[in-house]
Amino acid sequence: MSKKIIIYTTKYGFVTKVATTLKAKLGGEVELVNLMKAQAPSLQDYDTVILGGSIYFGKVQKKLAAYVRDAMPELAGKKVGLFVCAGVPDPETKRKELEQAFPPELMKQAVCKDILGDEIVYEKLSFLDKFITRRISGSTAGQSHFEENRIEAFAQALR
Ligand SMILES: Cc1cc2nc3c(=O)[nH]c(=O)nc-3n(C[C@H](O)[C@H](O)[C@H](O)COP(=O)(O)O)c2cc1C
Repeated sequence: MSKKIIIYTTKYGFVTKVATTLKAKLGGEVELVNLMKAQAPSLQDYDTVILGGSIYFGKVQKKLAAYVRDAMPELAGKKVGLFVCAGVPDPETKRKELEQAFPPELMKQAVCKDILGDEIVYEKLSFLDKFITRRISGSTAGQSHFEENRIEAFAQALR
């Protein structure tokens, strides 16, 4: 039986929603690891590794970037899927954010890579993040794009 693991980082929980949905769509044995709360296990028991995070000020969480850098030798030969959640409206900017979130050789190795939606729940944000969001978007309404079809296509590439 093939074992899969989703290793991710999140600030306000949207990536957790995406990762949980992805797990359900993949079916079978899928482990979920939130790097903000736990350490990733050795990858030797897994043949498929999915890595995901969210983008703040153009970059994915440092915790994910550092983990991926260290895990590169272990990731060799694995089936890899890469995703980010990112909320800038411009698709080209989003694509660049995804491109820069992971090492180029891992981007090449990945069987799927995508931007799987975004969500800002204004009330959940820290004082500073509220201030910045209000300055950038001019609104306190928040935003939500749950990309069910993209998550489905992503899962399909890894089943
Ligand atoms: C303060 C702040 C800064 C953000 N900066 C960016 C950014 O530079 N680029 C982007 O695409 N999305 C940006 N976003 C949107 C987040 O990436 C998006 O809301 C994501 O879904 C958050 O996921 P999380 O709840 O798992 O952390 C920002 C959101 C906040 C609140």
